[in-house]
Amino acid sequence: MISPAGSPLPNDLDAYWMPFTANRQFKAAPRILAKAKGTHYVMADGREILDGTAGLWCVNAGHCRDEITAAIAAQAAELDYATAFQMGHPGAFELASRLAVLAPGDLDHVFFVNSGSEAVETALKMALAYHAARGESARTRLIGRERGYHGVNFGGMSVGGIGNNRKQFGAGLAGVDHLAHTHDLEHNAFSRGQPDWGAHLADDLNRLIALHDASTIAAVIVEPMAGSTGVLVPPKGYLERLREICDAHGILLIFDEVITGYGRLGASFAAQRFGIVPDLMTTAKGLTNAAIPMGAVFARKGIFETFMSGPEAVIELFHGYTYSGHPMACAAALATLDLYEKEDLFARAAALEPHWREAVHRLDDAPNVTDVRDIGIAAGIELVPRDGKPGARAYDVFTKCLELGALTRQAGDVIALSPPLIISEQEIDRLVEILGEAIAATA
Ligand SMILES: Cc1ncc(COP(=O)(O)O)c(C=O)c1O
Repeated sequence: MISPAGSPLPNDLDAYWMPFTANRQFKAAPRILAKAKGTHYVMADGREILDGTAGLWCVNAGHCRDEITAAIAAQAAELDYATAFQMGHPGAFELASRLAVLAPGDLDHVFFVNSGSEAVETALKMALAYHAARGESARTRLIGRERGYHGVNFGGMSVGGIGNNRKQFGAGLAGVDHLAHTHDLEHNAFSRGQPDWGAHLADDLNRLIALHDASTIAAVIVEPMAGSTGVLVPPKGYLERLREICDAHGILLIFDEVITGYGRLGASFAAQRFGIVPDLMTTAKGLTNAAIPMGAVFARKGIFETFMSGPEAVIELFHGYTYSGHPMACAAALATLDLYEKEDLFARAAALEPHWREAVHRLDDAPNVTDVRDIGIAAGIELVPRDGKPGARAYDVFTKCLELGALTRQAGDVIALSPPLIISEQEIDRLVEILGEAIAATA
């Protein structure tokens, strides 16, 4: 069946198997986004909705920016597609060079992919191949962290630490282990910014090293701030300690910056905010302002150069995607970087952070709220679960917010907020006000 021309409402919802969605519940009461501009969506029924989640942590410069739309259209007319295997096109080289300048330290080589999940798979494979190239092919173990989210492909799922994302899909990758997570309400509830308590949790890596021996461990992957699992902010000193332990044992440190990259924490990357240079860094989402799917993996100079030491006619890394460095994605990303620079959006996010913090912590005393945490322009509001129904209260809050005019994100019993970085102080206040009303209404 075809929707009537011009109708924003699909007339049959059945065929579409929706991702990470309770399909039957959704289709009984659909929520259809029809348009977007700036900080707002327009629903199919014409209602304007304040976007409290930047889409899905990705539309950092706001929706439907004319400069990005125009760049994509122009690129589509000029060069629609170019294979990236043994061929190149100018946009990919230009974008990689621009990104290398943006990245911290010597993370100056960039590999293009199409999503955060692919970025993670790519980084994990790079880590294994790097050690093999150096003659340490026994280093095959990958260490993730409980409550981590690294996408949905087999590697990312395996190093990820969210039970529901794993339990339907078998044993996952062999040789994976997990650090303890850093979330502890007893010590850290209602922290503003980085919690004071918890640096010692990084020592859990020493436990895994004692168990497996460092000579078998290739890499540790963590989100500097865990987003999808409900905005878990790293305790002060925690990431520094992880870096030190990795260095002491020749283990690569991978920062998964799919959410934290491109301004979310008021710096280009969380790596800069926290002053730590990882060995590999995965990004996606804000790279193109989400207008075209794209991800980028950054590798430190020494890692890239290790691969460049063999015979010149041999492919150095047997890995890549048909759409790696797609011309339209590159055009979207270049236009996005221009916007970020022109509007100084990362600095804007940093300047907005105190207002953001004050605003979200107005919910500290709201009913059923057990924690409010924040960093950059992100916040997690944790709620008491309903008896025997995990996630049900936060789902009700999410749907109530939508009814009241704001899009929020439910992650278990946490409501996560991460609006576009162009949001105004008045819009922040309104977002928090709506969330407060929704929490009260569902108490
Ligand atoms: C830290 C992190 N890594 C990886 C991913 C997966 O990205 P994608 O959904 O683009 O595959 C996400 C998505 O939210 C993420 O937050």
